[in-house]
Amino acid sequence: MSLLTNQEMEFLKKKYTGSQKKNISAKKTTSQGLHSGRPRDDMYRAGNSEEKVAVAAVSEILLAPMTPAAFADTLHIPANETILTLLRWGIIAPKNKLLDEDVIRRLAQHYSVEVKVPEATDEQKSEILVSDAAEIKSRPPVVVILGHVDHGKTTLLDFIRKSRVASREKGGITQHLGAYQVDTKHGGIVFLDTPGHEAFTKIRARGVKTADIAILIIAADDGIMPQTIEAIKFAKQMEVPIIVAVNKIDKADPTRLEVVKRQLSEHDLLPEEWGGQVIVAPISAKTGKGVDELLELIDLQAQVMELDADYAGEAKGYVLESKLEKGRGSVATILLQQGILRLGDYFVAGNVSGRVSSIVTSLGKRLKEAGPANPIRVAGFSALPNAGDFFEVVSKKVSRRSRPEDEKSHGVLLKDKAINIIIKTDTNSSKEALFDSIKKVSKKIKHTDFSIVSSGVGDISERDIMLAANTKSAILGLHVKAEQNAINLAKKESVSIALFDIIYKLLEELQDRAEKTKEIKKIDKKIGEGSVLKVFDIKKLGIIAGCMVKDGIFSRNGKVVVWRGKQKIGEGPITSLQREGKSVKEVHTGFDCAFMAEGLEDFQEDDRIECFIQVPENKA
Ligand code: GTP
Ligand code: MG
Repeated sequence: MSLLTNQEMEFLKKKYTGSQKKNISAKKTTSQGLHSGRPRDDMYRAGNSEEKVAVAAVSEILLAPMTPAAFADTLHIPANETILTLLRWGIIAPKNKLLDEDVIRRLAQHYSVEVKVPEATDEQKSEILVSDAAEIKSRPPVVVILGHVDHGKTTLLDFIRKSRVASREKGGITQHLGAYQVDTKHGGIVFLDTPGHEAFTKIRARGVKTADIAILIIAADDGIMPQTIEAIKFAKQMEVPIIVAVNKIDKADPTRLEVVKRQLSEHDLLPEEWGGQVIVAPISAKTGKGVDELLELIDLQAQVMELDADYAGEAKGYVLESKLEKGRGSVATILLQQGILRLGDYFVAGNVSGRVSSIVTSLGKRLKEAGPANPIRVAGFSALPNAGDFFEVVSKKVSRRSRPEDEKSHGVLLKDKAINIIIKTDTNSSKEALFDSIKKVSKKIKHTDFSIVSSGVGDISERDIMLAANTKSAILGLHVKAEQNAINLAKKESVSIALFDIIYKLLEELQDRAEKTKEIKKIDKKIGEGSVLKVFDIKKLGIIAGCMVKDGIFSRNGKVVVWRGKQKIGEGPITSLQREGKSVKEVHTGFDCAFMAEGLEDFQEDDRIECFIQVPENKA
């Protein structure tokens, strides 16, 4: 046991206290009447250091991708014992994690079982032969559309795809990465539509990373803007060739084209016609003018690049987006770089593993297998992978990855003045964009912090409400709903839920909330001045100053400062203000009054008295 870390011990205690015994006896009732109420000794043999090792009911095991549960099942031993053994070796493996070949061999040895390497059938042999011989074929180009918000990226794709996505977008902006396979008269092209809003920098960077060619859209009327510059930077960094499309020429003044070219040359993109290398294509995404020429340019560029892929190797690629879908679980958009992905294939992606249960193209067609470059939606993930994760089939190799957590508690210290929030989003990339934006908003606000208590992907559930109630957090949802039972619970627990489908609306709401918590800074404002006429020392009451207000007013809500010549005698809030024996709120210029002030007793005739009240800084 000393081999285990504290963390592993905790994990063990939580997971397996009691359950191990339960499983053993449960197993026994099902194994041919072995039931005896207590583990029979002949089910176990002595292992190293007096540890008892379960006796396997088989003598050999075929080497194949396998989870601890499957391994134990094959040997007819309790799964928890296998997991415990792995833990002793320092390997944390939940029962559904695929095990490494080496680990399977070691486990087999531990249980005195022989490992058999499966002989390939003829079919498999020929498959191996095929996969050994790479099958390099040309593939469609992957083209990322980049540009500042509203410059017409989605509209251009709508024209090319004959779709109408842009007009239906919430808030008129794109908020996810779009991936489309399109048949054009210049061949198949894969387009990645990126959001132009500043919040989505990481989505744009990933888009460029996976693309062969970048189309930089610049609205002729607007010219080069911040996200245009960001796009140029990304494309240069990742060495992706840029084709510039100057858009909205249907409505912009024709002279704007030259203006944009000049701006381009200022950003180190010298247009061809000015002796540079950069192709600048004037287009109108709305009318379609110039779009065919643009497609031809893409095709030419792709041909120059001789884009190809190995269709025979193991399927590999990237996760573009991932999402929880009702009934299908975690689903991801994958762009394969090589190989053929088939239904039933085992895979890993980042920290997640799984087995392909369905493949659907961007055109909605279900497939049994898919090859490089065309974006596909793959179901069968054990949990949500992250956008940008490397995706790889492991039918022949076995994963080393551990199982992920879908939802993360950030373990943040709940700060006194912070606004605690729980965020739920539709995808991991929305979550990431929201995170970055909240950080930015937080930086701008001086007087408070946002503390993200937890963040997760999926609809708002009762669990979120309980967490919110316990941490005094507000729940903010982006592109998600709240489950009905969660809504009911939220009412009961007085937890606030706010749902948004546009990221900047959510951020505005956060800013408003921060604004409301702001304690308005107050400063002292002088409102009146007077001088002491007479001092009264009244038993049981204290020292009272009789005073003539010479300028402005004295207010019961104010404080006084006492001056004797140039010397400040003291100051304190007024505790009582009277005129002609009656309590009053204010006394104006030219009238006399009597007041008492907290902590002030030393008054003398002719002392100068100033009266101040506190006002909000901005109204001073
Ligand atoms: P984000 O995805 O939010 O960055 O915006 P976008 O670049 O995808 O822009 P979108 O396609 O949504 O277009 C923004 C607005 O510009 C819409 O109102 C379009 O109708 C309009 N628009 C796009 N292209 C053209 C064009 O060629 N001519 C004219 N007149 N309007 C256009
Ligand atoms: Mg768009």
